[in-house]
Amino acid sequence: MLYAAHSGLRFLVLVGGLFVILYAAVGLFGKREYSGAMARLAIVFTGLIHLQVLLGVVLLFTRPFGTAMIGHIFMMIAAAVVAQGTSTVVKRRPAEAKSYGPHLVGAVLAIAFIALGIVAIGRGVLQSTVP
Ligand code: HEM
Repeated sequence: MLYAAHSGLRFLVLVGGLFVILYAAVGLFGKREYSGAMARLAIVFTGLIHLQVLLGVVLLFTRPFGTAMIGHIFMMIAAAVVAQGTSTVVKRRPAEAKSYGPHLVGAVLAIAFIALGIVAIGRGVLQSTVP
């Protein structure tokens, strides 16, 4: 049950990241004024990653631990730090200095870390082993 939730939530995390990347790319390359929706979208993406990390920590106690898990955990923590860091950096800027660039770079990096973290335990990014 917990394993299925952790496996399934991965798709929401990936979709959330994709939305952030698309929204930030359209804003950046379309030279649009910074929108509060960008910050909210980034917060949802970060929240989904945090929830997934939380589920993962609980899951650790229910599954056999292999060395590959170390790569999984480090990559996912890196993704959470990058996603959270991006939101925090942009939030602290004065309104006229807020921009889409950090969101785009941050989300691309976070998704790359997540993909590497999934591959680290021998799964494809979209592969599920839930029975
Ligand atoms: C963004 C964060 C994370 C994502 C997207 C993610 C994604 C995944 C995916 C896709 C799987 C394989 C599911 C399947 O084969 O159907 C998995 C397995 C697992 N994850 Fe995560 N994970 C994340 C964070 C974490 C963290 C932080 C931990 C532990 C602290 C963790 C612990 C585990 C464990 C124990 C398994 C089961 C491995 C096994 O028994 O083979 N995950 N995770």
